Amino acid sequence: MSASRPVGVLDSGVGGLSLLRDIRRELPHEDLLYVADSACAPYGDRSTAWIARRSARIIEFLVAQGCKAVVIACNTITAVAVGALREAFDIPIIAIEPAIKPAVALTRSGVIAVMATSRTLQSDSLHRLRRRHGAGVEVLFVPCPGLADRVEAIDLDSAELHAQLHTLLSPALRKGADTLVLGCTHYPFLIDSIARVAGAGVRIVDPSPAVAAEVRRRLHEQGLLRRRVELGIDSVWTSAATDQARDTIGALLDQHLEVRQLPPLGRD
Ligand code: DGL
Repeated sequence: MSASRPVGVLDSGVGGLSLLRDIRRELPHEDLLYVADSACAPYGDRSTAWIARRSARIIEFLVAQGCKAVVIACNTITAVAVGALREAFDIPIIAIEPAIKPAVALTRSGVIAVMATSRTLQSDSLHRLRRRHGAGVEVLFVPCPGLADRVEAIDLDSAELHAQLHTLLSPALRKGADTLVLGCTHYPFLIDSIARVAGAGVRIVDPSPAVAAEVRRRLHEQGLLRRRVELGIDSVWTSAATDQARDTIGALLDQHLEVRQLPPLGRD
């Protein structure tokens, strides 16, 4: 495997760009290939079998593009399929998951809340994470249906969004949660609105910088870190309309990226 190959990154849509942003900061010389499956988003309402099949096809696509490693920038895919995906592919697969451990270390009230899709919160893997790291702390689960769609539609700061966040977060805040875990990669794009609704004194934990550091560590360990002076290139494929994706990505990252049409990846 050659270090000059790109790193693949995938998500149900544009949310994983929040992690791509941190990987780009951590690894400026790597070429990054990102797949936004926006035509199929949200994954959070889909079946486990569907998510496993679809994410395997996207990783097959990234491998066919020559990727030396893949980053799952979607907590929902990690929650339901990461084990099977790691068995199916023999390249390193680094996967994001809700940062319960750091949140448990931060809380003073002893109550934390994990914001994520329903599919992530129902998964065995998240319950295992809670058992492993949540001892002595109350870990509340806050399903947030519809929130990822707001990011796909670039609604990052509307009155309707604030009202929705208020409805979603109030029960956990009333129970004393002082630390919120962003358990979906779409949510970092809403961090200002979440902070405003949650109020001062509530901390928000985004695992993306730690996952980006883990990507560096894994590439280094496998001898796959790219050593060159030129900066890497970001390329994006979308399953939705390319014009729309270009506008959405431009608005979220404040940057113009090349966006290509993802070819059909088999029947669902
Ligand atoms: N961005 C995804 C996650 O981290 C999923 C959002 C969705 O498609 O439901 O869970």
